[in-house]
Amino acid sequence: MDDCKVVLNTGLRGVKIADTRISDVNGDAGRLIYRGYLIQDLAANATFEEVAYLLLYEKLPSQRELQKFKERLIPERGLPPEMTAALKTRPFHALPMDILQSAISMLAHHDPEITDTSRESALRKAERLIAKIPTIIAAWHQIRHHREPISPNPSLDHAANFLHMLTGVRPDPETARFMDVCLVLHAEHSFNASTFAAREVASTRAHIYAAVSAAAGSLSGELHGGANARVMEMLLKIGTPDAVDSYVQTELNAGRKIMGLGHAVYNVDDPRAFILAPMSQIMGQKIGDTRWYDISKLLEASAKAAFNQRKGMDIVVNVDFYSASLYYAMGIPIDLFTPVFAASRVAGWTAHVIEEQYGGASAKPVLYRPESEYTGDYCGPNTCAFVPVAQRG
Ligand code: COA
Repeated sequence: MDDCKVVLNTGLRGVKIADTRISDVNGDAGRLIYRGYLIQDLAANATFEEVAYLLLYEKLPSQRELQKFKERLIPERGLPPEMTAALKTRPFHALPMDILQSAISMLAHHDPEITDTSRESALRKAERLIAKIPTIIAAWHQIRHHREPISPNPSLDHAANFLHMLTGVRPDPETARFMDVCLVLHAEHSFNASTFAAREVASTRAHIYAAVSAAAGSLSGELHGGANARVMEMLLKIGTPDAVDSYVQTELNAGRKIMGLGHAVYNVDDPRAFILAPMSQIMGQKIGDTRWYDISKLLEASAKAAFNQRKGMDIVVNVDFYSASLYYAMGIPIDLFTPVFAASRVAGWTAHVIEEQYGGASAKPVLYRPESEYTGDYCGPNTCAFVPVAQRG
């Protein structure tokens, strides 16, 4: 009898499963880098298009490369008419993340080079996904409100065009830049749940649409990308600054989690939250209503103090906490917060799929295949005797 102790790494916390050159999250230092660049520098200086290029092509683009990249993305923004027609057949109450996940799979039906397995083709498909996902999200938003989708505007950059298609209004430069920074901040975060899902699917040599649609499904969960919408629902439920402390006590007493707090990797506050918080405040001031930012600020302090008092440990603020009030102030419907996250993260997902399938610096696993410890104690130590259906009573 083998009495080896089985060590289970529940949730794979702390387990390194592959090398990557794409990004690094240092949870103790609160440091996030994309291909060697600090997130603070990218958020302050780069556009989403530059960051998407960096993630896909391993370098920041020259002016000419950036121009060419944009010229490739812009004509790819449109959806095949059959897809728009298919979206119009969906029930209007369908969840936007479900629509997005299905639509990503549908894009594969229309890709003219779906069977081309070259790296060059994967990069072209990645560009198509980055270009089209905002259009899918915005088109669905219009369709579910019985309106015609708004065509992409080729004179607008990626972020501004996304807001334009969502709201029907050409955003002012500051609002467009805030959206751009949000897309930069959410574009990549190492082996999080959705990226791991994408890489796992890619490791089977399935195509990039299969991998990205799996990632979208993973992102939809409230412990991952779905948390930003849950944060806003929480803020609305709290309603006023004087209700913050009692809300925190009630939730912690009931053993419920406070959305937007806690992180699987960061042991200090998420560096992206420091960038998002002031943007949320400024956006609130811009629309003449800082209530949701103010409540967020109070909630952060109250929850951190209460958590520390109860557990003798700190809880950190994550990326979803301040992006909620920021998106809300920008006029984005709550159920589109997670799709907006996906519109950004697709840059990271596709970079990971390409790294998984075409390699980076080190050898890749042929196929992810973890093992499990079987605990199905149905018939004691023996296997069960099979009884034909007619004799089972
Ligand atoms: N509110 C209240 N308590 C929390 C909490 C939160 N947001 N996040 C973690 N905790 C508690 C856990 O209940 C656990 O308590 P216990 O030891 O008494 O069981 C302890 O803190 C450790 O948490 P754990 O769930 O082990 O942390 P994790 O690293 O596995 O999980 C998350 C990280 C993100 C899943 C978790 O913090 C969470 O659910 N946060 C809310 C959802 C969210 O914002 N998700 C977006 C992540 S970017």
